[in-house]
Amino acid sequence: MLQKPRGTRDFLPDEMEFRRTKEAVMRRTARHWGYREICTPTFEHQELYTLRSGPGIVGEMYTFQDKGGRELALRPEGTAAVLRMFVNEAKVLSRPIRWCYLSDCYRYERPQKGRYRQFWQFGAELIGADTPEGDAEVILLADDILRSAGLDYDLHIGHLAPMRHILRDLAEDVRREVMALLDKKNYEGLAAALSACNRTELEEPLTALLEARTPEEAFAICGDVPEKERIERMVEILNSQGLAYTLNFGIVRGLDYYTGMVFEGFAANLGAENQVIGGGAYRLAKLFGGEDVGSCGFGIGFDRVLVALGDIPPAADTVVAVVHTPESRGYAFSVAKSFREAGIRTELNLLDRGFGGQMKHAGKTADYAVVAGVREAESGTVTLKALATGTQKECSIGDAVDGVTTGWH
Ligand code: HAM
Repeated sequence: MLQKPRGTRDFLPDEMEFRRTKEAVMRRTARHWGYREICTPTFEHQELYTLRSGPGIVGEMYTFQDKGGRELALRPEGTAAVLRMFVNEAKVLSRPIRWCYLSDCYRYERPQKGRYRQFWQFGAELIGADTPEGDAEVILLADDILRSAGLDYDLHIGHLAPMRHILRDLAEDVRREVMALLDKKNYEGLAAALSACNRTELEEPLTALLEARTPEEAFAICGDVPEKERIERMVEILNSQGLAYTLNFGIVRGLDYYTGMVFEGFAANLGAENQVIGGGAYRLAKLFGGEDVGSCGFGIGFDRVLVALGDIPPAADTVVAVVHTPESRGYAFSVAKSFREAGIRTELNLLDRGFGGQMKHAGKTADYAVVAGVREAESGTVTLKALATGTQKECSIGDAVDGVTTGWH
């Protein structure tokens, strides 16, 4: 028996319907904030991701050469392609631009609970509003989307400026290494890296910064940074909206393109892979050949949100099973059509089953049996049976449709 590739999943109808419901909630919420949906290709030129996303993601990429010899990659995340699209298509649009997307992403990681090789991100990008108000909007939007989907989670918000300021004298590659170690909370590795470059004195302010929970505490450790006022204004807006969050200047993010505000969210009952959202401010437009426009956005790990939400509810829609005989086949197809036109999920017997067999099957799969036999065909009626109670009546097709719609039993 052939198996699906490692790290991928199949979705049965109940799960698929649950996913579609949650997608719809997320799209609707994003739309209320003015974020309209876009779509970019599943694969792009590899270069798009190697330019800036950082070694972590590049090492996990699904890459291939097409028949024309082009080096391509399945998208490992949404942001780079959205900014490529902005530079290609949307330079002339009035700013800021508010876009959202639901994209399947591909990363060659070791699969475990909440970590897949094909997964979906619900993302949003705000392009051309490089302001504390823009940063605040993106965070508040993310929170609105996650909460409207029914998720309870912990939100951590930070800014890279204080940490970058503490590390400002380090060579670029050492700074990256140190920040990557902080991102992985590998404090032993951090001590070793600082010792290797003779900068062990940085360990103390770095550790203190991880504990700072207000802008004042952070600036007391790192000194004033040019972004001070911006950070304070953003915090003021977030507080004015009663947002529940923890200020955390230890957030580094795994991707390399962030330049300012950064944020992450964590949900309970997910185990090690509990990060359900990551985002922040970045500048990618210039790198892709456009002007230097500041942007900000996030990616929600859609699959993780669903795992965190728990059990998948069974489908709630009412189902009608149309029961018939070979002689009334044409009539039964017409009866089914009337129910479908009224928006009712309607299934017609397709197998060589007798009346008893059809009723038994209906009992397992439907809420109502609608008998469209020869007698009913002659009188233009149906027999409607509510399967939960066993009550039945013969009536016109229109009355039967009304009965199912209003929950007759
Ligand atoms: P990211 O943190 O790499 O950021 O991914 C965003 C979210 O995708 C993660 O927080 C996680 O929930 C989910 N995720 C990542 N890898 C997997 C996986 N293997 N299986 C399941 N879920 C996963 C980004 O991708 C940025 N593009 C976010 C962003 C948008 N920043 C600015 N704009």
